Amino acid sequence: MFTSDAHMKTGSHIVNSMKAAGSQAEVTAQMAMIEASYHRTSIEETQPRLNYPPYRGSQFRHPTKELHDVDPEAIELSAPCFGERDVHPLESDLTSQHGGQPIGERIVVSGQLLDSLGRPVRGQLIEIWQANAGGRYAHKRDQHAAPLDPNFTGVGRCLTDYHGGYRFTTIKPGPYPWRNHHNAWRPAHIHFSVFGHSFTQRMITQMYFPNDPLLALDPIYQSVTDPKARARLVAAYDHDLSIHEWATGYRWDIVLTGNTRTPMESR
Ligand SMILES: [Fe+2]
Repeated sequence: MFTSDAHMKTGSHIVNSMKAAGSQAEVTAQMAMIEASYHRTSIEETQPRLNYPPYRGSQFRHPTKELHDVDPEAIELSAPCFGERDVHPLESDLTSQHGGQPIGERIVVSGQLLDSLGRPVRGQLIEIWQANAGGRYAHKRDQHAAPLDPNFTGVGRCLTDYHGGYRFTTIKPGPYPWRNHHNAWRPAHIHFSVFGHSFTQRMITQMYFPNDPLLALDPIYQSVTDPKARARLVAAYDHDLSIHEWATGYRWDIVLTGNTRTPMESR
């Protein structure tokens, strides 16, 4: 379930201080240098760099050999599959999975799944997972000294509708520390997985929130070296999605192909 940064979440602030290497200033300088050298090239990068030294773990987390081609039909014989009846509409409401209301800022996150021509991509499984309002995942590997919320598990899913639309009701996640370097904090984010029509078409990415000061400091976000491309990972506040006396709304479209493709962690 948990991919990306969750494996490097800190156990406590003490462990963080002991194990972390380097300062934020060093990491920030390294990120600025990489972006400056990117701007000197004429090749547009729209996806995260697989090996991005400021994100310390990235060197261990990407293929170092040629990828094998697989037969999609053979994979389908043993891969998980899903149908419309497997996903209940209530699974998109992360605030109603327990006996009480979770703590935090209730939000609606909605958008469209689109192809390169802006056409809706229908009937696709979108899954999300996230930390609670205190920045803690309901997962045994997350020992961050922030409270768990008994009314919040932090996972949900839905199928895109006829217009390629998806919609989740959830809680705005908190930022959390991780072990990349000393005093490293992930900006608030929601992990997204998009399944195509087969298991070989899964894509994973993260959605961020606008005006988060941690974005400039975060090597995972900054591993997309092109500012326009990484801005596509940031949702927009949308007052039309906000619900009177209930929730604030954020809009975030996911583009699967083409030049304006949403940066993805998996390729
Ligand atoms: Fe995360």
